[in-house]
Amino acid sequence: MGVPFFDLKRQYRSIKNELDTAVQQVMDSSRFVLGEKVKSFEKEFASFCKTDFAVGVANGTDALRLALLACGIGKGDEVITIPNTFIATTEAISQTGAKIVFVDIDPQMYNISVSQIEEKITERTQVILPVHLFGHPADMHPIMKIAKKHDLKVVEDACQAHGAEYKGKKAGAIGDAGCFSFYPSKNLGAFGDGGMVVTNDEGVAQRVRMFRDHGQMKKYEHLLEGTNSRLDEIQAAILGVKLKRLEEWNRLRRQNASVYDGLLQDVDEVVRPLEAECAKHVYYLYVIRTDRRDELQEWLTSESIGTGLHYPVPLHLQEAYEYLGYRNGDFPVAEEYAEQILSLPMFPELTGDEIAKVASEIKTFLARRQDQSLTAV
Ligand SMILES: Cc1ncc(COP(=O)(O)O)c(C=O)c1O
Repeated sequence: MGVPFFDLKRQYRSIKNELDTAVQQVMDSSRFVLGEKVKSFEKEFASFCKTDFAVGVANGTDALRLALLACGIGKGDEVITIPNTFIATTEAISQTGAKIVFVDIDPQMYNISVSQIEEKITERTQVILPVHLFGHPADMHPIMKIAKKHDLKVVEDACQAHGAEYKGKKAGAIGDAGCFSFYPSKNLGAFGDGGMVVTNDEGVAQRVRMFRDHGQMKKYEHLLEGTNSRLDEIQAAILGVKLKRLEEWNRLRRQNASVYDGLLQDVDEVVRPLEAECAKHVYYLYVIRTDRRDELQEWLTSESIGTGLHYPVPLHLQEAYEYLGYRNGDFPVAEEYAEQILSLPMFPELTGDEIAKVASEIKTFLARRQDQSLTAV
């Protein structure tokens, strides 16, 4: 039995009629851009996050970029974030004209190391941009405290954390703005690209609304130069149907994580993901660490088990960021973990048998390895 890394078909099949009807409604209305579906999904998503505003955009990268622009970020500013995230986080920063400044990660939680933020703050710093990596929220209270002390904004990258919670508040709803991606494989995924900015700041919401639609609030009256980054009406219709299931799907992801936890708890060579006491992890990814990661991944692939690496090369060592002047050794935790992390199959519809198969193949690989080393001695 093979196990896919994720399988979107299972989810589609389970709610096919409702999704098909919602898409058909858009086609019947023939209102394809910024219609009723976008409006109602924005309202529902704001209510889900318990924020005053939500503005739908074309993707998560734009959610971040437009949120930063709406916070007034541009050339000459610095934005602090982590090096072990998807490049979209930093593309959004540099494409506003601001400079990317990295901070290493916390060795337990994989999110920004709060104790190392202040030493990176300069007179140019304007924003701290924590990433709620893999579905686990960053340690937001101390981050907000540092931001307040230095008069900085906080823009949350919640692209992997729909429904995650920090001290009872939704990830994305704590800083000045929270940014979501609805890429198909996310906890809440569209049938294409989509994104959202949530905020309690009316000015930020209004500016994102303008930026996404060519700088206009009224047709052909352009208050500033924006872009075309609107959430698609058909995607909003799909997301509206799926949002009603998000809490249940997150519950199933958490349940799957705890089955993995139980099966892998006695495996010394495997470090399992943690959930902080103050947090609710929504397991966009279930990421383990192990020393011989590449060989384990090869073994699992040979058994038709899908895995992923998130992310194999930290951003400060990417060719794209050579110009920033970072070197190997600058962020030792992010660098070490990039060689150890392995994302196992994780999605709500994953079955107990499939999780058992993954765990048993991990154990088989490690036992084989032990046998081989005994023979060698
Ligand atoms: C952490 C993070 N930030 C930003 C993004 C960008 O989202 P999108 O692909 O919708 O542009 C992603 C999506 O993969 C992500 O995982």
